[in-house]
Amino acid sequence: MRIAFCSSEMASLAKVGGLADVTESLPKALAGLGEDVWVFLPLYKQIWVERQKDLEDTGVKISICIDGQERTAALWKTSVHGVTVYLVDYREYFYRDHPYGTPEGDYPDNPFRFAFFSRAVLEAIKALGLGIDIIHCNDWETALVPVYQTHLYREDPQLKDVGTIFTIHNLAYQGVFDKEVLPKIGLDWSLFHMEALEYYGNVNYLKGGIVFSHIVSTVSPTYAREIQTERFGYGLDGVLRKRKDRLFGVLNGIDYDEWNPATDPKIYVNYDKERLEAKGENKRRLQEDKGLEPMESPLAGMVGRLVEQKGVDLVHAVVGDMVSMGMQLIVLGAGEKRYHDMLLELQEKYRGMVSINIGYSDELASRIYAGCDLFLMPSRYEPCGLGQMIALRYGTIPVVRATGGLADTITEYNPETGEGNGFVFEAFKPGEFLAALQRAQGVYSYGERWQTLVKRAMECDFSWGASARRYMEIYELAKGLASSG
Ligand code: ADP
Ligand code: GLC
Repeated sequence: MRIAFCSSEMASLAKVGGLADVTESLPKALAGLGEDVWVFLPLYKQIWVERQKDLEDTGVKISICIDGQERTAALWKTSVHGVTVYLVDYREYFYRDHPYGTPEGDYPDNPFRFAFFSRAVLEAIKALGLGIDIIHCNDWETALVPVYQTHLYREDPQLKDVGTIFTIHNLAYQGVFDKEVLPKIGLDWSLFHMEALEYYGNVNYLKGGIVFSHIVSTVSPTYAREIQTERFGYGLDGVLRKRKDRLFGVLNGIDYDEWNPATDPKIYVNYDKERLEAKGENKRRLQEDKGLEPMESPLAGMVGRLVEQKGVDLVHAVVGDMVSMGMQLIVLGAGEKRYHDMLLELQEKYRGMVSINIGYSDELASRIYAGCDLFLMPSRYEPCGLGQMIALRYGTIPVVRATGGLADTITEYNPETGEGNGFVFEAFKPGEFLAALQRAQGVYSYGERWQTLVKRAMECDFSWGASARRYMEIYELAKGLASSG
């Protein structure tokens, strides 16, 4: 099978969150199954700055009319883990400090930037003559690919029979824009109705992906069910229910070569489940580096985008109690300013017990996964979540709310039977979260039981194997649907 994977993030080139990890690790896993796969990504400033020497000009130029102007992109390529990545170079749109915007808000021309990218992917596939069977699109940024395919390339011999799959990594981000955008991105008003792109008087890119792709998927079975309900559907549950026969939940995996405490060069000391003393050394060094008191009691970590989804307010609500219990907290994240301020205040208040690190750092992220005892994900909703899987791999026990992929990967530890791999609470309430933390501390205080739990966590397998094979079945289905018209 020949697969084009298009995305707006990729871990070693430009990462904001979990989509970047998936874009890097799923194509690698598919290539490992013997499939031909190419990744398509915008050529952001960060990639120019950090990877220029690895970039090769393909010589291909792509011209597209967007926002009233003919715009010409160049196509570059590079290789990541042996997978070829094609990069769409259009400086006016992508030579910026961040993929999507600043902490103050999104770039106002995002509707044009990503419409341009989506069309450029289709044009690039044609120009390169890749003979693609499947285009796999991800999130609203590439949701227009199936819309363009069905409207502008219906007769195109290279594109008309290509199967499309659209994966929703987060339904809360839909790409909703003023309707006047529509003619400016090369689409006509015939698409402005309830069964297509129209959404409460605006245009909704993500909805286009749901309606026009052959297959829709999301990143865990529980989230696939949740998004069909009003509570989690963000206004699109009805549209999703209509497509339920073609809607699949496939759990993400993580790359077990990349995330490996035995080899990760970013952590202080490498370890595996037979050398857990070295995990303790990572904790001591992390405490020292971050000005935390050298205590034996549990150190809880959090790494993630600081946005409403992630339950930062719930963490804020329980910190006082955590500190009273003798627990320490270390947070790494970036996102909305109100959460930055909220957390930094805690650091002031609980010096030596709380460390807040605003920003993005792969190194510190690894050190937190390795050095902590507990990993907190009290999310309001969580399509899949990779943090909890990475934490398990590093023997750090997740404390999670039972939602989406967290519910599919973490089960409550049962001290009687020894089963389970974390601590789970149901309602989004500080009291329930705190109770889960107390249960964790209870087990922690039984040293031996805790060691057994840590080993058990490290034995969990959330690598891509099974899920990559599941995607192959779905691609076959999409291909069949595309060729049968
Ligand atoms: P989401 O995609 O919703 O942000 P996930 O748990 O799926 O959440 O994935 C988050 C990924 O991004 C993980 O690999 C996590 O380690 C990483 N990450 C998030 N924030 C940061 C940060 N500030 N610094 C380094 N890595 C981060
Ligand atoms: C999104 C979700 C997260 C998921 C990631 C990768 O950012 O918020 O839960 O793990 O995408 O699919």
